[in-house]
Amino acid sequence: MNITVVPLSINDSQDELQELFEQLTDNPSFDVKVLATAMNCYCAIIKQKGRIVSFGALSIYFVPDKGYVGTIQSLVTHKDYRKCGFGTAILIYLESKAKRLGLVKIELTSNPKRENARKLYNTLKYIKSDTSVFYKNLQ
Ligand SMILES: CC(C)(COP(=O)(O)OP(=O)(O)OC[C@H]1O[C@@H](n2cnc3c(N)ncnc32)[C@H](O)[C@@H]1OP(=O)(O)O)[C@@H](O)C(=O)NCCC(=O)NCCS
Repeated sequence: MNITVVPLSINDSQDELQELFEQLTDNPSFDVKVLATAMNCYCAIIKQKGRIVSFGALSIYFVPDKGYVGTIQSLVTHKDYRKCGFGTAILIYLESKAKRLGLVKIELTSNPKRENARKLYNTLKYIKSDTSVFYKNLQ
């Protein structure tokens, strides 16, 4: 199977990405044109038969005592195309982007229920930290 990772473009399909994001979260909210041009957010996709089947993004932020840090966001592969190496290919692509940009590290969060994702992160040598994540919804 040909695995080519490319950046998301403004001409990519909102509907295809919608279908994919619905396999990641309830009620996804996004605009493909905004995503493709967002500052400090690099979106990567893989297509098969002309349709988007895998997605992941690298978002960058600045930590005062560390420098620029990347987070992997919204990694998802279409259920019909899992365990073919697509998620791995997206992560490796985003890691190489992060290295080229000089980021000091990559972080990600994953719900314990996401067993496939956690296995994959483990395989790719991501280290589980003890830090708890706190959040507050603003909308
Ligand atoms: C997590 C997720 C993105 C992984 O995507 P994927 O495209 O299946 O990932 P890969 O195919 O690269 O790797 C998955 C596993 O399949 C294995 N694999 C890859 N190619 C394979 C092949 N040809 N045959 C058999 N196994 C294969 C990988 O080694 C990996 O095994 P591991 O988990 O034991 O390391 C996908 O399961 C998904 O979308 N889940 C729902 C959304 C989600 O949980 N996202 C993560 C948010 S934190």
